[in-house]
Amino acid sequence: MSTAGQPSAAGPAPRPRTTGPLPRAAAGDSGLRTIRLCLLGFGSVARAFCALLAQQERVLAERHGLRVLVTAAGTRQGSLLEPQGMTPAAVLAAVGERPAPPLAARPAGELLSASRADVLVELTVMEEDFAPVATGHIETAFGMGMDVVTANKGPIAWNWRRVSAAATVAGRRIRFESTVMDGLPVFSLLELTLPDCRLLGFEAVFNATTNYIIDAMGIGRSFDEALAHVQAEGYAEADPVHDIDGWDAACKAAALANVAMDAGITPADISRQSLRDVPLQRIARARSNGNRLRLVTTVWREESGRVRGRVRAKELDIDHPLAPVGSESLGAILHTDLMGDVFVCEIAGLVPQTAYGVYADLLHLCRAR
Ligand SMILES: NC(=O)c1ccc[n+]([C@@H]2O[C@H](COP(=O)([O-])OP(=O)(O)OC[C@H]3O[C@@H](n4cnc5c(N)ncnc54)[C@H](OP(=O)(O)O)[C@@H]3O)[C@@H](O)[C@H]2O)c1
Repeated sequence: MSTAGQPSAAGPAPRPRTTGPLPRAAAGDSGLRTIRLCLLGFGSVARAFCALLAQQERVLAERHGLRVLVTAAGTRQGSLLEPQGMTPAAVLAAVGERPAPPLAARPAGELLSASRADVLVELTVMEEDFAPVATGHIETAFGMGMDVVTANKGPIAWNWRRVSAAATVAGRRIRFESTVMDGLPVFSLLELTLPDCRLLGFEAVFNATTNYIIDAMGIGRSFDEALAHVQAEGYAEADPVHDIDGWDAACKAAALANVAMDAGITPADISRQSLRDVPLQRIARARSNGNRLRLVTTVWREESGRVRGRVRAKELDIDHPLAPVGSESLGAILHTDLMGDVFVCEIAGLVPQTAYGVYADLLHLCRAR
């Protein structure tokens, strides 16, 4: 993957190189190319990703000539290590209902090294303040010759230039589709299907947890009751304060702006409004007006070239393209130079969609140039 390039007031730098062959993986006797994965983080998304790989085993073989094996999986509580590789179904069976893989935990660097994997799949939780641990995982993997797929927005939001430079130095690639809108293509849309289009800015509903809470409060449910529901569904952040105080949306804004607008910003540069500061009366008023209240993220480039952003509660008139974005949905209007405004919307973004984004990223990495 190439670097994000030099900052430019005129527009984004050359798009990162995020596709290409995986040279280390060899075709075995079966004629299939084996791709070895090291999974860091084994929560909802990693489990759904393994289940999807198991479900797609035949498609991966017949359509793509791939056999995907897991050589290591690790969390802070446990690990699995099988350098010969386990099928994703066997990994799921080995972990079972346990909160973590069954062997003793190992330091991430040790596990990565022992895994001899081709790709790190980084699915740990987002840390605030420059995401040091996850960024370290990614840099370590690049240093060991691995490509990276991640759904963890921390490193892209806080450290994109550093991560991108490390990929270039190591000659490796990174993909991160699920960091912004679950599996909905946003980075791939801009990179692969809108060639030469510059992203000028965007307006988005980036957080389903706050959508759900706003809509539930609008019909008389309590804030706590609504939050408990989204936590049970698995799409709230590990710490839901990230959702409610607008950090999740700010991280997504920074990630998209950094990659597609070469913004060089962090989530701390996005001004935020917390859902806690939105009175119930405002939600009720929007409903009675036939409109919808949403935490809307807006990112734009100033004449100086500087990229600015904010997350604010906004009453969306029913004619606004983002107004139909429902409780479990995400939507974004991408302002481009050559294609005008493009609206992308995910109608129900849950864990399987995030896992699909990780799966799609893996396929993009495996696709030969
Ligand atoms: N859930 C979604 O729908 C969704 C959507 C988009 C993006 N994402 C992103 O995808 C990532 C995974 O989400 P998830 O829902 O699977 O989270 P999760 O269920 O909370 O699982 C996170 C996993 O990471 C492990 N972990 C945390 N810190 C670690 C560290 N320093 N080293 C090793 N393992 C670590 C945790 O185990 P221990 O605590 O035992 O270490 C756990 O296994 C997150 O970054 C999230 O923001 C999720």
